[in-house]
Amino acid sequence: MGSKLAQIALARGHEVFSGYAHNEPEFGRGVKFDLLDPAGILDLVDRMRPDVVVHSAALTDVDRCERERELAYKMNVEGTRATAMAAEKAGSFLVYISTDYVFDGLAGMYREDDSPRPVSYYGYSKLLGEQFCRGCIARTCVIYGSHPASGKVNFALWLINSLRSGKEVRVVTDQFITPTLNTNLAGMVLEAADRRLCGVYNLAGATRLSRYDFAMELAKAFDLDRALLRRSRMEDMKWPARRPKDSSLDASKATRMLACKPLAIKEAIKHLVDEMPETEVG
Ligand SMILES: NC(=O)c1ccc[n+]([C@@H]2O[C@H](COP(=O)([O-])OP(=O)(O)OC[C@H]3O[C@@H](n4cnc5c(N)ncnc54)[C@H](OP(=O)(O)O)[C@@H]3O)[C@@H](O)[C@H]2O)c1
Repeated sequence: MGSKLAQIALARGHEVFSGYAHNEPEFGRGVKFDLLDPAGILDLVDRMRPDVVVHSAALTDVDRCERERELAYKMNVEGTRATAMAAEKAGSFLVYISTDYVFDGLAGMYREDDSPRPVSYYGYSKLLGEQFCRGCIARTCVIYGSHPASGKVNFALWLINSLRSGKEVRVVTDQFITPTLNTNLAGMVLEAADRRLCGVYNLAGATRLSRYDFAMELAKAFDLDRALLRRSRMEDMKWPARRPKDSSLDASKATRMLACKPLAIKEAIKHLVDEMPETEVG
């Protein structure tokens, strides 16, 4: 998400400092920092004094967060506290990127004021991070886009790559999400930042569907062999961390409030096709 945000912000004429830890950024002026070093974060933000800080860095590996809770706490809670303090001290507006995983997934189509109840340590640590943010808390869900970033491919790229190389893939039919195209997310985040929108916003795709149906939509749009898609269920996946069954987010507040609207799935995938020349798969 961060790299796409930097690319779009640059194209709009902003001066962009791209924070990174291991993978040097393609867009913006790279500034190395470590979420585990609160003093370093304070110092860095104090030197840059940006108008806006978008805090999207995190330990995002849900299973690793479950196994390495102390590390997840240090990065996602203490790292966020330091970032929020640094932004406040520098007079920067903070956008904190949070997650659908703050919810238990029993109901789905969560609104901004629904009560969070995370079922994983990742979700819990991201929720604790929210308490430090006095600016915009942007919750999003299953981010996908046309390029690999931070050394990993997203779900859509993994699926497209696998089907293109003739591999069978198993995708769960009983997990429901509102997938979010990174370019759409970046547009919404930039608008929220420009307009200094405070409080919680679901900045997610506008369509709720199962992960399997998402895969099916991608396969159709990219004209890939749908017979390679195998139905699976969450209980077969043997994930170390629990996942919410239905963590779809209701993005109607964003649809109402923003000029850059959450995209419906077909429209978003159409953008993805346009953004991704056939030769350029991760
Ligand atoms: N991906 C999703 O489906 C999803 C869904 C909901 C919410 N979110 C939230 O959205 C945000 C962005 O997600 P993403 O998928 O784009 O994340 P990602 O690809 O895993 O990228 C994580 C970012 O954090 C940086 N980072 C990792 N360890 C760091 C450290 N010790 N110090 C400083 N920076 C560090 C990474 O930099 P390097 O690459 O240099 O290591 C990278 O830029 C996260 O806050 C996540 O919780 C993601």
